[in-house]
Amino acid sequence: MTRRIMPGLLALFLLIAGSASAQTVRPPENAGAVRPEAADPATTGRIERQRYDNHADFWRQVREGDRGSQASPTAGRGMMIQSAGEGWRNLRNGPYVRWSGYLLLGVLGLLALFFALRGRIRVVSGYSGYELRRFRFAERFTHWLTATSFVVLALTGLNLVFGRALLIPLIGKEAFAAFAAWGKVAHDYVSFAFMLGVVLMFLLWVRQNIPNRHDFLWLVRAGGFLGGGHAPAKKFNAGQKLLFWAVILFGVSVSLSGVQLLYPYKFAFFEGTFAFLNHLPGVDLPTALSPINEQQLANLWHGIIAVLFTAVIFGHIYIGSVGMEGGFSAMGSGRVDLNWAREHHDLWVEDLQKVEAQPR
Ligand code: HEM
Repeated sequence: MTRRIMPGLLALFLLIAGSASAQTVRPPENAGAVRPEAADPATTGRIERQRYDNHADFWRQVREGDRGSQASPTAGRGMMIQSAGEGWRNLRNGPYVRWSGYLLLGVLGLLALFFALRGRIRVVSGYSGYELRRFRFAERFTHWLTATSFVVLALTGLNLVFGRALLIPLIGKEAFAAFAAWGKVAHDYVSFAFMLGVVLMFLLWVRQNIPNRHDFLWLVRAGGFLGGGHAPAKKFNAGQKLLFWAVILFGVSVSLSGVQLLYPYKFAFFEGTFAFLNHLPGVDLPTALSPINEQQLANLWHGIIAVLFTAVIFGHIYIGSVGMEGGFSAMGSGRVDLNWAREHHDLWVEDLQKVEAQPR
């Protein structure tokens, strides 16, 4: 049930966004609905052109979902034009691309500003010369499996959104076409490595990411990074826990909507989710979604979550590399300096007191 719910939960938001956005063409109310009567031999037939006085009337009726016939046994049969596709296309090529660009550039700009104002977070007490093991091999393997596959997915996915505008002027149409085609193949296959990574990450770290009483203080003091006093933390602080749960929630949502795109018409996650949400007071979402509506929602939802996810990961990559002195080695060698650990994860160090710190 949860699998069916996850992408759709957020799809409620999508529907609201979709209806709020100005669209040049407003599809008729019934445009996306499956019309079972279309399969009925008694009613299925050629659109009777002579019923209309002129071509404009004829095509308007076709656009508005008038019945026709076709040999294909696929769902949505008999409908020559599925007008909801135009709404999806307008949203996908307009507001979606624009706001995704603003968000990603905005986050990069904020990180650059933060770096300029705050600089690198230093190990204030200096390196001690003693190290603690922070992540064992299985944890580092899982992290880098997830991270490298995420980077491939993000680059090849963003290429579908911004590639034409950004890359064609730089490398030309032919090179872009080859890159986009290979990128699509990579995106499809690498997604399985990413999904595996998310599952392993969940299993390895869920216990240490359950919120505790120290997290609230950590958030109030912004981790102590802005001069608000020391913020005690165990192995993962509140910021890291937020990242962990974002990775799990976004990871599951982007994966399920991705699987729906990878195997078209095999899943209908949105319909099930909407039906579930309709149990909430005041919620009345459409539950008779056509297979094509399902695919359109999956496409938009996948893109929105992927961009939000990427924005969050920009912040994580910043803090895990240039943003914090002494932090990268935790995922590199798996070891960190004792003073770094005391400054950022003092309660974890206390927990480890039984483990002897070894000379470097
Ligand atoms: C590609 C560049 C990346 C770098 C340089 C990087 C670096 C790091 C480092 C140094 C840590 C350990 C922090 C600590 O010791 O407390 C860490 C932890 C973690 N990373 Fe990454 N990471 C990258 C990408 C990713 C990606 C793409 C994901 C998920 C999709 C991810 C998810 C996590 C999670 C959940 C943790 C544990 C929580 C935390 O420490 O924040 N990382 N990463």
